[in-house]
Amino acid sequence: MDWEGGRLLLPFLQVVFHLYPPLGLVSSSGPLDLSSWHCSFSGTCECDFRPDLAGLECNLAVNLVGQQLARELLMKGLKGFVHNPSPEKPLVMSFHGSSGTGKTFVGSLLVPHLFRSGLRSPYVHHFSPVVHFPHAEHIEQYKNDLKNWIQGNLTRCGRSLFIFDDMDRMHPGLVDVIIPFLGPSWVVFGTNYRKAIFIFISNAGGEQINQITLDFWRAHKDREEISLKDLEASVYKAAFENPQNGFWKSGIIDQHLIDFLVPFLPLKQHHVKRCVASELISRDLEPQPDVIQAVADSIPYFPAELKVFSATGCKTVTSRVPFFL
Ligand SMILES: Nc1ncnc2c1ncn2[C@@H]1O[C@H](COP(=O)(O)OP(=O)(O)O)[C@@H](O)[C@H]1O
Ligand SMILES: *[C@@H]1O[C@H](CO)[C@@H](O)[C@H](O)[C@H]1NC(C)=O
Ligand SMILES: [Mg+2]
Repeated sequence: MDWEGGRLLLPFLQVVFHLYPPLGLVSSSGPLDLSSWHCSFSGTCECDFRPDLAGLECNLAVNLVGQQLARELLMKGLKGFVHNPSPEKPLVMSFHGSSGTGKTFVGSLLVPHLFRSGLRSPYVHHFSPVVHFPHAEHIEQYKNDLKNWIQGNLTRCGRSLFIFDDMDRMHPGLVDVIIPFLGPSWVVFGTNYRKAIFIFISNAGGEQINQITLDFWRAHKDREEISLKDLEASVYKAAFENPQNGFWKSGIIDQHLIDFLVPFLPLKQHHVKRCVASELISRDLEPQPDVIQAVADSIPYFPAELKVFSATGCKTVTSRVPFFL
C-alpha cells in the first residue's frame, strides 16, 4: 500500500479507532496491520517507534567493520526488549572503546531502524556534554534541565531513546539525575517509563579493550574469539572506578542498571581500508586500491614497533581522503 492510499485512509481510520479502540489488533501483523497504520499516521500509541531489527542487522553487517562482538550484543539487547510490551526496566546499554571505533556511528545508525522519522524523530534525544552541558559552574541548572527533559519526554512518549555521548567528559553530578530513570521502579502518573532505551557512549575502558585485543593477537588468536567475559571486568573497573569519568560514584554498577556492556575493539589496517573504500564510494569515486592503501598507510598504528591497530580507528579517514585524490 502506498503513502497516498495511507493519506486517504487516515481520517477514516481515526474515526474507526476512535469508535473501536484496536485492542485486539495490537499484535496483528497481517497484510493490513491496522494498529501500526494508526500509529504511523496519528503519532500516538508507541509514538513513531517502529523497530525493524532485521534491517538493522543487515545494515550493521554491511556498514560496521570489525565489531562482531558489539554487533551481537547490541542485537541481543534490542531483540529481547523492543517487542516486549511491558519490560521490567528500561534498556540500558553502555558502549565502550577507544576513539574512532564506531561507537557514535552505531548510535546514529540504529536510530532509523527504531524510529520512523529517524534522527529527526522527536522521541530521539542525543546529548553531548560539550554541546549541552559545557560549563561546570552551571551544573545545578543542567541537572534541573536534564531531569525535566527526561521526565517530560518520557511522559510524552514512553518509547523514547536517549543517547548520552562522550560520557567520560560528562560532569559526574549529571548522572545522578539520570539514574532514577534507569531502574525498574519509575512509574509515575500511569506512564510506563520502563519502555525507554538509554545508550551511554564513552572512550572509558578503551585502553583496556585495546590491550586485551593486542594480547589475543600476540597469542595468535582470532579477534572473533574475544568474548564479553574477557573484557567485562577490566572495562567496568576502568570506566566506573575512575574519578575522571561521568559514571564515577554513580551507583550505576552497584544497582545493576546497565543491561548490556558493548565493547568496541581497536581496528586493524584492513578494517581502515574498508572505511576508506566506503568513504570513496560515498563521494561517487572509484575505490582505487592505491588510494585506499595510501590513506590507510597515512594513519598512525600501535604498538609503535608492531603497528597492528589503528590509533584513531576510522575517525580521520573522512578528512584524510581529499589529500590523496
Ligand atoms: N567500525 C566501524 N565501521 C565502519 N565505519 C567506522 C567504524 N568505526 C568508525 N567508522 C567511521 O569513522 C567515523 C568516526 O567514528 P565514530 O563512530 O565517531 O567513533 P567513536 O567510536 O569515537 O564514536 C564514523 O562516522 C564512521 O564513518
Ligand atoms: C525533550 O527533550 C528536549 C531535549 O532533547 C528538550 O528540549 C525538550 O524540552 C524536552 N521536552 C519535554 C516535554 O520536556
Ligand atoms: Mg564518538
